[in-house]
Amino acid sequence: MRIIKASDYNDLSRKAANIIGAQVIQNPRSVLGLATGSTPLGTYRQLIERFETGDLDFLDVSSINLDEYVGLGPGDPQSYRYFMNHNLFMHINIKPENTHVPNGLEANEKAECARYENLISQNGGIDLQLLGIGLNGHIGFNEPGAEFVSSTNCVALTESTIQANSRFFADMSCVPTRAYTMGMRAIMHAARILIIVSGANKARIVKEAFYGPVVPAVPASILQLHPNVTLIGDAEALSLL
Ligand code: F6R
Repeated sequence: MRIIKASDYNDLSRKAANIIGAQVIQNPRSVLGLATGSTPLGTYRQLIERFETGDLDFLDVSSINLDEYVGLGPGDPQSYRYFMNHNLFMHINIKPENTHVPNGLEANEKAECARYENLISQNGGIDLQLLGIGLNGHIGFNEPGAEFVSSTNCVALTESTIQANSRFFADMSCVPTRAYTMGMRAIMHAARILIIVSGANKARIVKEAFYGPVVPAVPASILQLHPNVTLIGDAEALSLL
């Protein structure tokens, strides 16, 4: 694993955008695995700027997002589809039909998981997977558990994740308790993984995930087994390494 120390959040975002940008320049037909949450926002702003200056072209790029809340549709400002449209896709020239997020409105969980898993293989897998990490070590919404779950699945979110996500909702009762998430196989089969971490509250889990044992109780620890992982963190998030 390569660890890159950024001086602050802006520096982290620029460095992450440099890596994603280089991927897109080298392979204009790249399949990018994308994440939501607070951490990638700066990276997405950087990518938009680079598109606006003509340095990046997303015309032939495809994207496959990690996860989506069950019950939320594209028009819901809290849905991850809405997040992606508004924080990235609407501002670059990626074709909407080439952007993929699980369908939170699909009530048939088995069918939606199978459809998404299929879609990942039809796209030939992921060239570069962008990840954040949850305070409990989740990647995507692969929550701590007794085993690593390999394929796209529908999960019950843990109390810690529901708490962390509640900052975006009017009150706790509105926070979805279930989500669709890409499984570990698609993440681990990505050719490259870029994981970004920011802030002192991530320091403990970053240390556990990358220097502790590989265990399903810390889902991100599985990344220790991937041959091409780059971790970019600010000084606070990397302070315990
Ligand atoms: C989001 C996702 C999550 C987040 C993680 C960190 O699509 O897959 O695993 O990456 O919860 O979120 P932030 O960046 O908000 O700390």
